[in-house]
Parts: sequence; C-alpha cells; structure tokens
Amino acid sequence: MCGIVGYVGGRPALEVVVEGLARLEYRGYDSAGVAVLADGTLATAKRAGKLVNLRDALAEEPPPAGTIGMGHTRWATHGPPNDRNAHPHVDCTGTVAVIHNGIIENFSALRGELEEAGHKLGSDTDTEAVAHLLEDELKGGGDLAAAMRRVCGRLEGAFTLVAMHTGDPDLVVGARRNSPLVVGVGDGENFLASDVSAFIEHTRDAIELGQDQVVELRPGGVTVTDFEGRPAEVTEYHVDWDVSAAEKGGYDYFMLKEIAEQPRAVADTLLGRIGADGRLTLDEMRMSDRELREVDKIIIVACGTSYHAGLIAKYAIEHWAGLPCEVELASEFRYRDAILSPTTLVIAISQSGETMDALMAVRHAREQKAKLLGICNVNGSTLPRECDGVLYTHAGPEIAVASTKAFLTQLVAVYLIALYIAQVRGTKWGDEVFAMVQLLERMPEKVEKVLETMEPVRELARSLAGERCVLFLGRHVGFPVALEGALKLKELAYMHAEGFAAGELKHGPIALIEPGLPVVVVVPPRARAVLHDKIVSNIQEIRARGARTIVIAEEGDASVEPYADTLIGVPAVPTLLQPLVTTVPLQVFACELATAKGHDVDQPRNLAKSVTVE
Ligand code: M6R
Repeated sequence: MCGIVGYVGGRPALEVVVEGLARLEYRGYDSAGVAVLADGTLATAKRAGKLVNLRDALAEEPPPAGTIGMGHTRWATHGPPNDRNAHPHVDCTGTVAVIHNGIIENFSALRGELEEAGHKLGSDTDTEAVAHLLEDELKGGGDLAAAMRRVCGRLEGAFTLVAMHTGDPDLVVGARRNSPLVVGVGDGENFLASDVSAFIEHTRDAIELGQDQVVELRPGGVTVTDFEGRPAEVTEYHVDWDVSAAEKGGYDYFMLKEIAEQPRAVADTLLGRIGADGRLTLDEMRMSDRELREVDKIIIVACGTSYHAGLIAKYAIEHWAGLPCEVELASEFRYRDAILSPTTLVIAISQSGETMDALMAVRHAREQKAKLLGICNVNGSTLPRECDGVLYTHAGPEIAVASTKAFLTQLVAVYLIALYIAQVRGTKWGDEVFAMVQLLERMPEKVEKVLETMEPVRELARSLAGERCVLFLGRHVGFPVALEGALKLKELAYMHAEGFAAGELKHGPIALIEPGLPVVVVVPPRARAVLHDKIVSNIQEIRARGARTIVIAEEGDASVEPYADTLIGVPAVPTLLQPLVTTVPLQVFACELATAKGHDVDQPRNLAKSVTVE
C-alpha cells in the first residue's frame, strides 16, 4: 500500500526521491519521509499528512546534500499516521534507516525480544523492529545485504524493505517478499521503487524482482540474490510508456484524464488480438486449444472494481463460451472449499497485479492444480509471474485511486477471452464470434460519444452534492454496473451508496425509498425486451414511492421517458457490451459530485491505490 523509492548515483538524491514519491503518492498518503546519506551521516525527515507537508519541512530545514537516499509514502497499518510512525525508521545508533511496505506479522514478538535486549523503540510500527534487527546484525561492522538476508529469514508476513547504512555509503539494499519492488537501471545511477512511475523520467529500463530476493544497488551496478545469498535470475524489461503518461496533462485530476483516455485504452486493449480475418489470437493465455477444450469450469477472483469486471465476465463467458463460471471476492475465495481441479481455469483480475488478496487466491488455486490466467495492467507486477498466462490490459498507468480506464479495459479483456474460448470450443459459429468482434472494435467510438455528452451528468452531480444517499439499480450486466456506480460514489464522495439487482428491490431494499431519494437505474437495451420491460416496471415502483429517478438508457428509448426525472442517453450496443457505455456516466457522476463536495478525487481518504496487505 505504501510507496517506496531508493536512489544511488550522481544527482542530488533528495530531489530524485521526493519527485519519485510525488509519483507514488497514490499508493498511500497518510505520511511521508526521506533519508539521505551525506558525509557519513544519515539525515531523516518525516511528516504526517500528504507529501506537501514533508516538502514544506524540507524547504524549511534542508538536509545535507547527498547522492544516496530513499523515501516513503505511508498507508498506515500499525500505529496512527503521525510524524513518529512515518518512515524511515532508524536503529538505536542512528546509523541504519529502513522503509517498509507490507505487514510483519511476528513484529510483536520481535519487538518484545528487542526491548528485552535493551533496544529503545520509538514508534508503534512493525517496521522499526527491522532497523533494530539490522543494528544487531551489523554490530562490529559487516555487510548490509548479508544482514538484510538474515533479518528477512526471521520475518513473517509480506514485506518490501529498503535500507541504508552509514557503514557503506554507496549502497542501498532492498528485499522483497510478496510486496512490490522494481529496479530502474540508469547510467551511473540506479533506482528502486514500488513501481516504475517513480523513476520513469530517468530511465525506462527496469528489472523485475522475484519472490524472496535481495537487491544491492550501487551507482555502477545492481546485484540480485535470493535470501540464501545465491545469485538470482531476474527479468529485465523496457517500459513502453513515458513520463507524460504518468502526468496530469492539463487536467485538474488524474481521474479526469483517465476517464477521458478510455476510448484509447479500449482500442489499445483490442490491438494485436484480432486477425485480418476477424479471428481472435490470444497466445498470451498460454493454453493450447486442447487444454481450452478440456476446461470445464471457470472461477474468477478479484477485488473491488476488478471484481465487478469479473461479475460482468460471468455473463459473457456463460453466454458465449458455454462454460459454468463462478465469481468470487478474492479475499473470501481461499476460506471456502471451492471445488477446483486441473480442468478448472481460474482467472484473476487485478489492475495493479499486486493486490494481496488476489495473489493469495491465485496461490490457493495453484495448490489445487487449477490453470491460472491473469488479467493485469502493470507489466513487471507480481500477478503475471504467478499465473500460467496473462492478458495485459493496455490502459496505461492508472494513477487516480478510483479505477476507471482499467475497468473498461478489463471488460475488453474478458470479452476477448470469452469470445476466444467460444471460437476454440465452437460454442458459437465463427461468423457469430466475428460479428461480435466487429462490434467490439466499434466500442472506442461509442465510449467517445458518451464522453462528449457528459455535461448534463456533471450538472446533475453538482445538484446532488447535498444528498446523503444514492441508490443504484440494474439487471443482468447492469447489476454489476450498479455496484460499480455505488462503489465510485462511496470511495470518492464518502456518501452512502448501494447497488442492487433491480429484481431484488421488492425483497427488502425498497424500504429505503423515500420521497426525493436519488435512484440511478441502468436500463438494458430495448432488444432484451424481457429485461428491459421488467426494469421499466421497477422504475415505476420506486417512482410511485417518491424516488427521484435518474435513468441511464439507450438513446431514443421513449418507453422510459415518462418515468425518468433525469434521462441519460447512451449509444445502442449489444446487451453484453453495454457496461462499456453505461459505466462512464457513473464515473463522471461520482467524480463531479465528489469535486463539488471539495474532495480530492485522486486521493480519497483512507484509501490507497494498490492494496498490498490482506
Ligand atoms: O489493482 P486491483 O485491480 O487488484 O485493485 C482492486 C481494488 O482494490 C480496486 O479496484 C479498488 O476497488 C478501486 N479503488 C476501485 O475504484
């Protein structure tokens, strides 16, 4: 959840580290801190609150200039987000500094042991124990990397650790188990970070670190070993986007930019996967036709918005590929007795590829010999390494905490997978698959069209800024869209918002309807008459009880007009593809409403972009 940066090279480290933190702040923003090593001394500075507080403190009292340093933005797990608990943490001698992402589960026992041995711990964090353990390991001199390996051997849980020691002023050491850490390889300088956006303006050459590895970073080179000290195999890669992709590009918020980028993101995710003859090629799945034909069940695991993409995938997979499909919150999956076998395909959806719940679900499925496919947006992240195959979404870096363009590209990915399985298994005629693929190719222009008509949605959102609660209803794939609309509103506007299957309304939730309550209803295309007409009845039911109805329906759908206090038209598309156009107004709605309430939509309270703890 936290953001980590390390630097060693020839430039002023403080600048590089603070700029890197600014790019990683979306990962956590409870507090921030830096450490710089200069003239044989470690200087640290840390402040509660957003990075701006740290910047102010550094401007007031700049640390000595050095060319080696590290920094951290925190999402608090152990101890409140105050100056004391902010990272870096130092040992008793002030010669070792440590930053950390993750949770050290046996920290309490370690702290007890350290305190008994006379160490003075000044924070409530699990991290500080590591600084003191390193202190013990380094007594009488010694090698920081070797000390780190030994300390890692004593830790339980998930961690990325980065440390510096005055005894070796050219060295930054990182260690990784379960939490993300990548290396940026420069010329006479090297970087460590939670993700590449921290160093993308300096280098696009990166090294993916594996599980249980320690990296030594010096100006002239990078050495990676496992926890036993054996040389480790690493994967080098070149990042295919540049710094402009990680900047606001003239928008007030990343979220606005990311919403606007959706037509391109959808187009990019289709790119290279559709042959000239309209046939799909998904070699990235790394499954032979025979293996795909053997699959008898699909289980999708994901969290948050990615879970909503999974719910929509179920409809597409069952309809096109004719396979039973279960969708499960990743955090729940491994605690039930799901029935898996080598013919089960488990699909894990994660924008970041670092969500711990998703990773744990994948490992659980692996133990039961299921085939594993990831849908992921971040090259170099952990999920692709843990799966047999991966389908990358090409949304580009998503920086706003609330997921938007990643969601639309996840939908594209699941549509492609469902159609591809249908193609291989022959559950749909070739020309049916081809026709759907052609419609899919037209979706960027449809999404663009939705974006062009969003002013009334923004106006509506501003007018509802004083409301306390909004409900969202949908049927079929409109139900997950309703859940997604409610999630966006909760996380951005901090409002009570619930999504319901419209058919469930009468079984309880209708008691919530009171005069004036805004209810957003996602209406299926007219072509699905049964679904469509049923939801029109549901709209009448809530309207009869005084709800203010905000209806999202196909352009020209006159049948809903009499019952809509506000009508938002979206282009006509097939039912299964409709979430690509109906979700966009809900994103715009939540973003505008939250902005009207004065909230920072890129960094909503209590959240972090990538949830790397369970
Ligand atoms: O990186 P992931 O897709 O695994 O993240 C999953 C959720 O944490 C994420 O979708 C979260 O719900 C977003 N804040 C929603 O906007």
